[in-house]
Amino acid sequence: MDTILSVKDLGISFGGNKVLDSINFEVGEGEVLGIMGPNGAGKTVLLNIISGILKADHGEVIFLGEDIQKAKITERTVKGIGRTFQVPRAFEHMSVYENILASVVYGQKVSEKEAAAKAIEILKLVKLGERANEPAGKLSLINRKRLEIGAALASDPKLLLLDEVAGGLTNAEVAGILDIVRTIKNSGVSIIWIEHIIQTLVDGTDRVMLMAGGRDLLTAPPMEVMNSSIVNEVYMGADEDE
Ligand SMILES: Nc1ncnc2c1ncn2[C@@H]1O[C@H](COP(=O)(O)OP(=O)(O)OP(=O)(O)O)[C@@H](O)[C@H]1O
Ligand SMILES: [Mg+2]
Repeated sequence: MDTILSVKDLGISFGGNKVLDSINFEVGEGEVLGIMGPNGAGKTVLLNIISGILKADHGEVIFLGEDIQKAKITERTVKGIGRTFQVPRAFEHMSVYENILASVVYGQKVSEKEAAAKAIEILKLVKLGERANEPAGKLSLINRKRLEIGAALASDPKLLLLDEVAGGLTNAEVAGILDIVRTIKNSGVSIIWIEHIIQTLVDGTDRVMLMAGGRDLLTAPPMEVMNSSIVNEVYMGADEDE
């Protein structure tokens, strides 16, 4: 499997708070890499560095063979990195369709007709076709999560970063999200998926990276990670409330 993303010795501190010490991992083409770790482990910070919102103090982020750390957020989007946000960020007064359309127009230079076709295709994929004309602000949590995934797909990413898209959902809703992520994976997109829900990591990823103390403690097939004694040690006494 070819490598799409390679992260080497990545570190960042905020003031005296060393959040990431040394993070090392790779994502293969077409692979879903799950990331788990206690609250505050730096999972979202890691995605923020990969997507360009934060700058690392040291280390490398190699995307498709190129160190992208000097690239701006929008340049990374164009290169093929898409992401969702832990707190969904829709334009509340615009309709679901308009939200996706706006993301498509932002993400790539396409004609109006092409953008509309792309937006409709995405709405179908994230199963929001029937809610296309509803205001985004009126959506239930599951549908806001679907919209968030749809917006991240608008730029046709080669690597999709998902930050807790299944958090707070019922089991049946989680199954729906798993379905959507599988469809995206099957279309050839590589995915990094941060999640606290064990079932999504076991059923929805190829490998899982366990993060704690600013380090990647273990990266292995999901069940191997779940059954490892390191997981128990990391979560013992930790606040796993999400
Ligand atoms: N921009 C920032 N400035 C200062 N500190 C930050 C910033 N972003 C994150 N932090 C700190 O970095 C640490 C890790 O935060 P992060 O949001 O990455 O955790 P997380 O692993 O995503 O946790 P959760 O599972 O709760 O989402 C926290 O202590 C947080 O306060
Ligand atoms: Mg987070």
